[in-house]
Order: sequence, then C-alpha cells, then structure tokens
Amino acid sequence: VPVTELEAMHRALELAWNGWGRVAPNPLVGCVILQDGVSVGEGWHADYGGWHAERMALEAAGDRARGATAVVTLEPCAHTGKQPPCVEALLAAGVSRVVIGAGDPNPLASGGAARLRSAGVVVEDGVLAGEAQHQNAAFFHRHQRHDRPWTVLKLAMSLDARIADATGRSQWISGEEAREWVHWLRAGVDAIAVGGATARTDNPRLTARGSVTPRRPPRRVVFAGRGSLPTDGHLLATASEVETIVVVPPGHGDRATWEALGVHVIESGSLPQAMGVLKAAGVDALLVEGGGRLAGALLAEGLVDRCCLIQAPLFLGTAGVPAVAGWPGGPLADATPWNVVERRALGRDTLLVLDRG
Ligand SMILES: NC(=O)c1ccc[n+]([C@@H]2O[C@H](COP(=O)([O-])OP(=O)(O)OC[C@H]3O[C@@H](n4cnc5c(N)ncnc54)[C@H](OP(=O)(O)O)[C@@H]3O)[C@@H](O)[C@H]2O)c1
Repeated sequence: VPVTELEAMHRALELAWNGWGRVAPNPLVGCVILQDGVSVGEGWHADYGGWHAERMALEAAGDRARGATAVVTLEPCAHTGKQPPCVEALLAAGVSRVVIGAGDPNPLASGGAARLRSAGVVVEDGVLAGEAQHQNAAFFHRHQRHDRPWTVLKLAMSLDARIADATGRSQWISGEEAREWVHWLRAGVDAIAVGGATARTDNPRLTARGSVTPRRPPRRVVFAGRGSLPTDGHLLATASEVETIVVVPPGHGDRATWEALGVHVIESGSLPQAMGVLKAAGVDALLVEGGGRLAGALLAEGLVDRCCLIQAPLFLGTAGVPAVAGWPGGPLADATPWNVVERRALGRDTLLVLDRG
C-alpha cells in the first residue's frame, strides 16, 4: 500500500518526538523520504548540535532520494549553524518535492522554502501545521515572546478536581503509567516548579527519572511565600547537586541559610515579575506541578500556556485539596475554551493536554 504524504507527515511527527529532552533550544524535527509512495529513509533531530532530521533521512535513503519527496515537520533551515543548511543537502541529493509542516519562526534559519522554490523544487507547506506547532510550542514561544517562559501546568486530579485528600495526601492519585509519562514530560523542560505548600507536604525531588535522560537536567523552582521551607527536604538538601531556585516575596525567607545550601534566591513581588526573571535566567520552558493555589494564581494572571491534566478514576470529595484555588474566575460568557491538543489513556487514567485559546 503506497504511503501518502499525509501519512508520511504523521510518521515524521512521531519520529520528531525522539529528540524530546535532547535538542532544545533547537526544535523537534522529523523527516521521511518518499519515493513512489514508499518510505526510503527516515530521520529526526536526535541531539543538540548533531545532524538535522533531513540529513539523517537523506543518508538513509542514499541514491533513492533522487527525484523523491522529502516530508519534513519544520521548514528546512537555510543557514549554517552547528550544521550546514538542510536546504543545500536536499538540493544536492536531488529531491524534487518537499512537503513542510510548519514554517520556521527563527528569522536566522527561515527562508528555506523560498530557497527550495527558487531552485526549482516543488514545495507544499502547511501540512499538519497545527500539529507541528503544538509539538514545538516551546520553540515557537521562544521566538515570539521574551517576557516569560512557555509555561505548562500539570496536575493529577480526581474526577471531582481534587489534587489531594483532606489530609493533604496526594501520593499517588495517578497510576504508574501516568507517573512514567510525567517523567518523560519533565525531561523536555528547563525547570520544574511547585508552590511552597507542595514542597512542604510532598517533599518532591522534581527530577526526570524516566526513559529519557535530559541533555541538561531541569532546574527546580519553589514559589515560596511566607511559610518556611524544610532544609532537610529533598529540594533544599540537594540544591548543590541539582540547581534549585527559590522565589520569595521581598524581605521574606531565610536567604542566608538557603544560599549556604546552594540555593539561588529570587526576590520578587509578583508572579509576572518572577516569570520574567526566570526567563532572563535561561528558563525557556517551565513545568509547574502544582499545587492548587499556585495553579490558581498562575491562571488568574494568564501565565499558563498549556495544561496537562491527568484525571484519575476516583472521587476525593469536597474536603480534598482543590486543583485550582484562590481564583474567583468570571462569568461563563467570558470563559474562553482551551484548545484540546491531545486526549489519551495512560493506563486507568486519562491525559488531557490543552493549549490556551
Ligand atoms: N495531585 C497533584 O498533581 C498535586 C500536585 C501538587 C500538589 N499536590 C497537593 O496539593 C497540596 C498543596 O497544594 P496547595 O494548593 O495547598 O498549595 P501550593 O499551591 O503547593 O502552595 C501554595 C503556597 O505557595 C506559595 N506561593 C508563592 N507564590 C504564590 C502565589 N503567587 N500564589 C499562591 N501561592 C504562592 C505560598 O507559600 P507559603 O505557604 O510558604 O506562604 C502558598 O501558601 C498538597 O496536599 C499536595 O500534596 C497535588
């Protein structure tokens, strides 16, 4: 059965995920070379600084790339960075048609489609562009705004939107597959954050301990308030091993003790300001893992770009800890629906990924 270009683009998007946790700040890219409806080469951008997806796929295709169609999730680059331009590699291989997912937002690298067209290659762009953009949301965000990180809010909750029981216990609401998925998610961000109460109650490690070993271990962030943070908790006690940042209102916190443990302290009067400081410190993609009050404050300020909600098949009741707290919200007529990016079963749990509408 011949492979259609659309099927090849789905496959290329799948291949691109192989670079998760390994290529940032570069984008995830996948590529399939099609010759008469047969896939003759596959590639992906596997490591920062390494071969681009097109090069890997062309290498696999060899001579069969001549006259073939290259299906690639992101516009091939036209500039020399750590690697020579992919556009020239496609031309040298004799590819006659290129199908592109999303355009490259990086002004330095874009222009690839135009260069291919001027060399006589037939270019079709915008194929599954939405999927390609969702896949590289952090990369697109980085090229579009510089005031704050691309921010993902992840919460594991009950059917009645509780993230812990009445005693504050949340381990474990979700099942093993969902927790494994969270470790995968962690590998692809620059920092992982929680609120002060979560740091105290859960004593989390906030490290990526799944199948993907991130190229750079994510930093850890605690949005502290007026409450104390235990110095023998995982986050502070291992601050000299895994970079740890505590954000605290001006004049609060035990700065001297924290810094002696190797913690980087940011004093900030507001969440938007703190986000700006994190961004300036190199956090392009931030994963916030709760709790409910931090989630509510971020949503109220419009600081969340993506929600990853894991719904477990159980009820915890009104005495449980709410998933979103302290945000009064507004009338239904003003509530903008979020866009569903993905709905997936993770064992007995359900993952819902949504981007801000
Ligand atoms: N199921 C899940 O996915 C999940 C995830 C995380 C947590 N949890 C559970 O949720 C519970 C904790 O959640 P929570 O809602 O009580 O608290 P939280 O959101 O973890 O922490 C709230 C605290 O964060 C600090 N903070 C700093 N800036 C803030 C801001 N702008 N807005 C709000 N808080 C800010 C304050 O610290 P101070 O208190 O120091 O002033 C505040 O009291 C625990 O029981 C935990 O087990 C579940």
